[in-house]
Amino acid sequence: MIKIVTIIGARPQIIKAAALSRAISTKFQNSITEIIVHTGQHYDENMSNVFFTELNIPHPNYNLNVGSGSHGKQTAKMIEGIEEILIKEKPNAIVLYGDTNSTLAGGIAASKIHVPIVHIEAGLRSFNKAMPEEVNRILCDHISTLLFSPTITGYNNLLKEGFKENNNAPYNANNPKIYHCGDVMYDNSLHFSSLANTNTSIISKLNLIPNQFILATIHRNNNTDEPLRLNALFESLHYISEKNNLKVVLPLHPRTANLLDKNLNVDLLKKIKSNNNFIITEPASFLEMIALEKNCKLVMTDSGGVQKEAFYFEKPCIILRPETEWIELVECGTAIIADADKEKIISAYNTLTSKNNLEYPKLYGNGKAAEFICDEMCKNLH
Ligand code: UD1
Repeated sequence: MIKIVTIIGARPQIIKAAALSRAISTKFQNSITEIIVHTGQHYDENMSNVFFTELNIPHPNYNLNVGSGSHGKQTAKMIEGIEEILIKEKPNAIVLYGDTNSTLAGGIAASKIHVPIVHIEAGLRSFNKAMPEEVNRILCDHISTLLFSPTITGYNNLLKEGFKENNNAPYNANNPKIYHCGDVMYDNSLHFSSLANTNTSIISKLNLIPNQFILATIHRNNNTDEPLRLNALFESLHYISEKNNLKVVLPLHPRTANLLDKNLNVDLLKKIKSNNNFIITEPASFLEMIALEKNCKLVMTDSGGVQKEAFYFEKPCIILRPETEWIELVECGTAIIADADKEKIISAYNTLTSKNNLEYPKLYGNGKAAEFICDEMCKNLH
């Protein structure tokens, strides 16, 4: 029996963790004990609690309640709390997801006291170190023992950074093991897709007609905190909505909601408020998000997770960032990088909606990435 401490904190990690917890409770209950630590990075009901209930994730054994703060302060509080828990629990490994401040904090705390790190979503790179997430993921990868990359691009990035393909067990931070194993989010999308049809009413609640609305999300700090970019994004959404008489549904992250009055031009804000087709809602639950993704005409987003979910549900996507870690989406032609540039966004919209031969090959595994990860952890952590 091995014991792992799983760190979650931000919304996407809570969702990713569901895949592993599900694999543990169905197939590995006799070989893996999981202790869940919630850092409290996200704390609103609709940014955190709703996911535990809806996705049937075991409630956290610990909550550090760190809340919001500057990156340094937030990360420091987490490191302190996680270190204490690791010393007390003495796990065989810590499991970290993705690239948030909670991921980095777990990585620093564990590596200093020599707890092996399992990094899920390893190897992804935007090659833009101005993004806090890029720094978090690079640092975390380079102190990990088992690195699970969801894509071949991610796996190749690790090789380019000096990771070796042929290290032999026993593995440790100086002799790590890298894998290409598929995406736990694909596991989740497959698993929860049918539940989204029956257990949510968001499509009827918002009076939406399938394939006749755009789903948009905006939350990256360089989009929300820079007025020029935020205005360009909202102007583009408003323009496309008016021009095509299309609804735009925007479930809004609290970061963005808090900054609309401050950073949006007054006239634009007025226009948006009087556009009945522009629907700004609270952050959606995961099942609601899946329902919106399955039924929309097209997705516009600066979220990494939502870009991929668009692909899983075979919807074209406009990426509202200057680059993406999920480059295979762009290579397939189903997603276009348009940054926060109105002209590029409109042109991407026209290109994607005029194509009727988009193809969505299976790029993210077979829906069993979590089981593979559990199996490898059992073999390699003692
Ligand atoms: C974090 C992650 C980002 C991930 C995103 C998903 C980092 C560096 N970034 O960004 O990679 O894509 O989560 O959502 O870790 N807030 C609330 N209630 C909450 C949570 C946040 O009001 O429950 C507001 C606060 O004003 C806070 C702001 O959102 O200051 C930003 O939250 P934070 O967790 O720092 O970063 P995210 O933008 O959510």
